[in-house]
Amino acid sequence: MADQTFTITDNRTGQTFTLPVTDGTIRAMDLRQMKTGPEDFGAMTYDPAFLNTASCRSAITFIDGDRGILRYRGYPIEELAEKCSFLEVAWLLLHGELPTQAELDSWIAEVKHHTMIHETTKKFLTGFRYNAHPMTMFISTVAALSSVYPECKHVLDPAIRRQEIVRLIAKVPTIAAYCYRHQLGFPYVYPDNELSYPENFLNMLWRMAEPKYSANPVLARALDILFILHADHEQNCSTNVMRCVGSSQADPYVSVAAAAAALSGPLHGGANEEVLRMLDEIGSVENVRAYVDKVKSGHGKLMGFGHRVYKNYDPRARIIKWTAEQVFEVTGRNPKLEIALALEKIALEDEYFVKRKLYPNVDFYSGIIYQAMGFDPAMFTVLFAIPRTVGWLAQWQEMIQDPEQKISRPRQVYTGYDARKVVPLAERAPLTMKA
Ligand code: SDX
Repeated sequence: MADQTFTITDNRTGQTFTLPVTDGTIRAMDLRQMKTGPEDFGAMTYDPAFLNTASCRSAITFIDGDRGILRYRGYPIEELAEKCSFLEVAWLLLHGELPTQAELDSWIAEVKHHTMIHETTKKFLTGFRYNAHPMTMFISTVAALSSVYPECKHVLDPAIRRQEIVRLIAKVPTIAAYCYRHQLGFPYVYPDNELSYPENFLNMLWRMAEPKYSANPVLARALDILFILHADHEQNCSTNVMRCVGSSQADPYVSVAAAAAALSGPLHGGANEEVLRMLDEIGSVENVRAYVDKVKSGHGKLMGFGHRVYKNYDPRARIIKWTAEQVFEVTGRNPKLEIALALEKIALEDEYFVKRKLYPNVDFYSGIIYQAMGFDPAMFTVLFAIPRTVGWLAQWQEMIQDPEQKISRPRQVYTGYDARKVVPLAERAPLTMKA
């Protein structure tokens, strides 16, 4: 086998260094020995936005962006979406193996036992204005749960970690539904633990005066599949935040809230809501070409297109497109689908997007389904955050159990002033004079 090393010559000093290569990487700390003199701190890597930096070793999710492959614990996403339930996949992500029937039954019972939220938690929600964005309410309320379960701060205790993981998985649909109901001025609907995870979520969203909510099985299954597709995605922006905040041993509630805050950005999980705004702005199939030309001339982006890792079709987008057809059988076809299909067709044939390897991502079609199911676009990112809570927690758990991990604290390249003296107040020139 070839020698797994890099030999690097520092042309500043003429010194040569041999660095071990592991899994195609070198340790950044191995660069520190490269110095121009005893005062030199040593060489570092400079990688804004971590375009080419592995921050951890993880066994949870594998993505091959060039081939459009996504696997959770080795299982192709297509098989999991077809053959499993979301709670089954949640168990897989957290434990590394698919559950047996007995394990799944016990897991479902455990999650159902924790779907209620403390009555005081509902009071956090009533403090929001009726038109507060559901994602803002979700982030704040999840963080507030930290005050309801003070023992959650003992993050190094496996039993406490397990208890909080179950509580969060069980409660995020309840919180999400309450955020939605608060906006509409509707009374909160308590969880119905006779229903499945997705059916209970629809129950808490949409039950009104009927004594028992009965979810449409096609919509419940579609939601379950969408939850599976959104559950994890290796070291994306919000997961990076979960690991970073968790690395200080902050509790899982404030860590999930921080991750959800990252997800809310329009370049990340907030894109699904932006896709609907974009399709509304385009208005009709006839306007698609003009909109694409506007984007190509540098005005805005095609929301729901492009990805840092996928340079091929996002496998989740393909499954979501199939799921949309199932949903439309029940809800009627969302007219925006025609605009989206026309937009996709034009973009996939246009050199601007082909050259930049821009394909539809997970957010491109999900909003069209959610809207057809009756969700307001403002809820779309909350629908992303519910399943991604499992991925964040699985990654958090893996980080805590990784002996190599410690508090995250990157370095920087300093570009500011050298040492200088304070000028007396009366002698200072105004900032404008310094331009
Ligand atoms: C998610 O990381 C994950 O795994 C995330 C996620 C997950 O499951 O966690 O998959 C979920 O966040 C999906 C992405 C949702 N975001 C959007 O759909 C927003 C629109 N997409 C872009 O903003 C963008 O594609 C990103 C943010 C997704 C990726 O950005 P990168 O990797 O930083 O790429 P870039 O911005 O440097 O773009 C490279 C080029 C640029 O053009 P040039 O400067 O070379 O001329 O491609 C262009 C960009 O302008 N470009 C786009 C574009 N995305 C990139 N041009 C038009 N429309 C777009 N959508």
